[in-house]
Amino acid sequence: MRISVIGCGYLGAVHAACMAKLGHEVVGIDVDERKIEELQAGRAPFFEPGLPELLEEVLLTGRLKFSSSMADAKGAQVHFLCVGTPQRKGEYAADMRYVDAAFHTLLDSIEPGNVVVGKSTVPVGTAARLADELADRHPAAVLAWNPEFLREGFAVKDTLTPDRFVYGLPSGQAGVAAATALDEVYSVPLSAGTPRLVADYSTAELVKAAANSFLATKISFINAMAEVCEVTGADVTVLADAIGMDDRIGRKFLNAGVGFGGGCLPKDIRAFMARAGELGADQALTFLREVDDINVRRRLRVVELTRVLVGGSLLGKRITVLGAAFKPNSDDVRDSPALSIAAQLQLQGADVTVTDPEAIAGAQRRFPELMYEADLTTAMTKADALLLLTEWDEYRAITPESAAAAVSSKNILDGRNVLDPAAWRTAGWNYKGIGRP
Ligand code: UDX
Repeated sequence: MRISVIGCGYLGAVHAACMAKLGHEVVGIDVDERKIEELQAGRAPFFEPGLPELLEEVLLTGRLKFSSSMADAKGAQVHFLCVGTPQRKGEYAADMRYVDAAFHTLLDSIEPGNVVVGKSTVPVGTAARLADELADRHPAAVLAWNPEFLREGFAVKDTLTPDRFVYGLPSGQAGVAAATALDEVYSVPLSAGTPRLVADYSTAELVKAAANSFLATKISFINAMAEVCEVTGADVTVLADAIGMDDRIGRKFLNAGVGFGGGCLPKDIRAFMARAGELGADQALTFLREVDDINVRRRLRVVELTRVLVGGSLLGKRITVLGAAFKPNSDDVRDSPALSIAAQLQLQGADVTVTDPEAIAGAQRRFPELMYEADLTTAMTKADALLLLTEWDEYRAITPESAAAAVSSKNILDGRNVLDPAAWRTAGWNYKGIGRP
C-alpha cells in the first residue's frame, strides 16, 4: 500500500520504517527539516536499538523516503498521524496544537477513499471531532483511531509484532472500508496471529489512556509498598517476587525504585485526569493523583536517602549519578527521575557528576548546570557516593571491587534494586537499596 506517516518522532520514525519493512511504499513527513535530512541519510535522530539497521535496510529498497513537505502525502491511501501530544505548560491537559496543525495541513492532500489513521495519544473525544472535520472537507474519506503501545527501547519489535491491534472505527460502510485498509497494512502481523480488536472511537482512545494508567498504577503500587517496607524493615523485592507469582498479578512492572518517567506515563496520566474532569468524571480518576504523588515522592526520598548516606549533609559532597535517561536503552531524558534527582542534589549543595552511555547530550541541554562525564571510571573517581538511578547493563555489571578503586568513600544507593546487596556489603560498602533493609 502507499502510506504517509505524519510526524517522525519516536512513534512516527519507527512506524514509517516498520511499514516499509512490511512491504509498503512509505513517505515519512515532519516539519523539522534537520530530522528529515538525518532520517533520509539513514541516521536515527534518537537512540533506539535496531532502528539504524532497519532504516538502512528499507531505504535501500527504495520503499521509504522522508520529506518536509506535507504535499508529499498526496497519493498515499492511508495516512498515519503520529505527532506528539505533550503536556500543556502549567496545566495537566495535553497540548493538541501539533495534532490539530498536522491534521489541518494534511486535509489538503486527502483524496476520495483515503483513510486517515490517528496513532497519537489523545484526549478521548478527539477522533470524533477530527472525523467531523474530515467529513466536512472530504466526505469520501474516513478516519480511524489505532493507538500505539510501543515502548522506547523495544519500539521496532513492538511495532512489527505488537501484542494486539486496536481499531477505533465509525459505524457502517465507512468503518468496514477503514478496517479493510488497516487489515491490508498489517496483513503480515495479522496473518502471524496478532489479535485485532474493533471498537468505537472513544473506546480505542480510552484503551491507550487506560493501559498507561494501569502501568503507572502498578509501578506506584509497588513504590507505595516500598515505603511501607522501609518503615518495617521488610524487603520489597521479595514481596514483588512473591505477589508476582500470582498469575492474576504478574511480576512485570513491579520493580520498586525511583519511579516512572519519560515522555508518556507521567503526562498521559495527567492528561487523562484533566480530560475526565472536563467530562464530569473527575472522581473516577482521583486515584491517579495519588499514583502521581507516590511517584514524585520517590524522587524526594532518594535525595533524603543520599543525604543520610553521605553523613547528614550534602554540602560539597561529590555525588556520581549513574544514568540520566528515564530508563535503560534510551537516550530520552524527558521527565527522567535520575536527572531530576541529580538536579535536586546539586541545588542542595552537592557536587554532582552525571554519566550515561547515551543520554549525556540530551541531559546537558536540559540541565546545563550539572557536570557530565562519559567515561564511567572517571565519573566515579573520588565520589563520596554512587547513585545507580538508571539500570543500564554496564551499571548492573559494576563490581564492588572495581568501583572501590575509583571512589573516595564506599557509599552506594541502588535506586533500581539491581545490585546484590550482600556482595557490596561484604566488600565493605555502605549499600542502600529502595524498600529493602
Ligand atoms: C510506556 C508504555 O509502556 C508504552 O506501552 C506506551 O506506548 C508509552 O509509555 P515507555 O515510556 O517507553 O512506554 O517506558 P516503560 O518501559 O513503560 O517505562 C516507563 C517508566 O517506568 C520508566 O521510567 C521505567 O524505568 C519505569 N518502571 C518500569 C519502573 O519504575 N518500574 C517498573 O517495574 C517498570
